[in-house]
Amino acid sequence: MKLEYSAVNHGFSGYAGTIPAVRNVNLSVDEGEFVVLLGPSGCGKSTLLNMAAGFIKPDEGEVLFSGKEIAGPGRERALVFQDSALMPWLSVEENILLAIGNRRLKFSQKRNAERLANEVTRVLDVVGLKGFNNAMPHELSVGMRQKVSIARGLIMEPQLLLMDEPFASLDEQTRLRLNREVVDIWIREPMTILFVTHSIQEALVVGTRIVLMSARPGCLISEWKLGSHGESGAERQRERLESSEYRDLSLELLNKMELCCPPESGCSTCLEKTR
Ligand SMILES: Nc1ncnc2c1ncn2[C@@H]1O[C@H](COP(=O)(O)OP(=O)(O)OP(=O)(O)O)[C@@H](O)[C@H]1O
Ligand SMILES: [Mg+2]
Repeated sequence: MKLEYSAVNHGFSGYAGTIPAVRNVNLSVDEGEFVVLLGPSGCGKSTLLNMAAGFIKPDEGEVLFSGKEIAGPGRERALVFQDSALMPWLSVEENILLAIGNRRLKFSQKRNAERLANEVTRVLDVVGLKGFNNAMPHELSVGMRQKVSIARGLIMEPQLLLMDEPFASLDEQTRLRLNREVVDIWIREPMTILFVTHSIQEALVVGTRIVLMSARPGCLISEWKLGSHGESGAERQRERLESSEYRDLSLELLNKMELCCPPESGCSTCLEKTR
């Protein structure tokens, strides 16, 4: 259940012609990994995530999941957005059920209803929102709404969870708490996570590997394996924030985020920029 980007190039057409968004991306994410894609705003992180979700087909190269080219969206690959995007007129449960609309038709009516209610209760429990099935979105904090959107992804029982800056709009304290919780979810629910952020601190506390992207057109600059520190999200966060190794890495990431491309790549766009 590997996710693989192979020689991926992609651009967008606009008023100023075609803008190159990502360039020569080669990335392989193994089953069970928690990979963080870190990079400055506009470098093409969402573009790469949308390719894995099946919303964008690359101009060149290929994106494979389990060895097959990704041809469109599929329930084995769920995407959580920066904005929880809940329907305000639907309850938490109804919002979550929207994600599996098609599957509802497959079961007989009664079994279907019971089974789905149980599934909703289970995923709400996983994200720490037990008992909120009938709450309306306006009754929840922004962080709780993000948890509902994670639950909406989890109910699809995805093999790959794609998270696009899911906590970017939250205050730092809430973000750190949800960072711990998402690690706990990943420990409990076996799945691969590709998590996008532009926050160095967030990148350092959640994943098992950080992949750093350059400014647009985004290419992969470098990567760091972080090892699976801690038995829980809280332990991982505390150990990493307190260790001098991670403080050094945070400075290194800060310096490298200024780079356009790896110096040895000889990329012509970068050479033009530095002239
Ligand atoms: N649909 C589109 N049409 C035209 N240009 C686009 C489109 N989507 C993205 N782009 C351009 O491609 C580049 C990469 O965009 P993308 O959204 O992938 O960046 P990002 O790294 O996710 O940024 P952010 O951190 O701000 O979300 C940007 O310069 C953006 O303007
Ligand atoms: Mg984005």
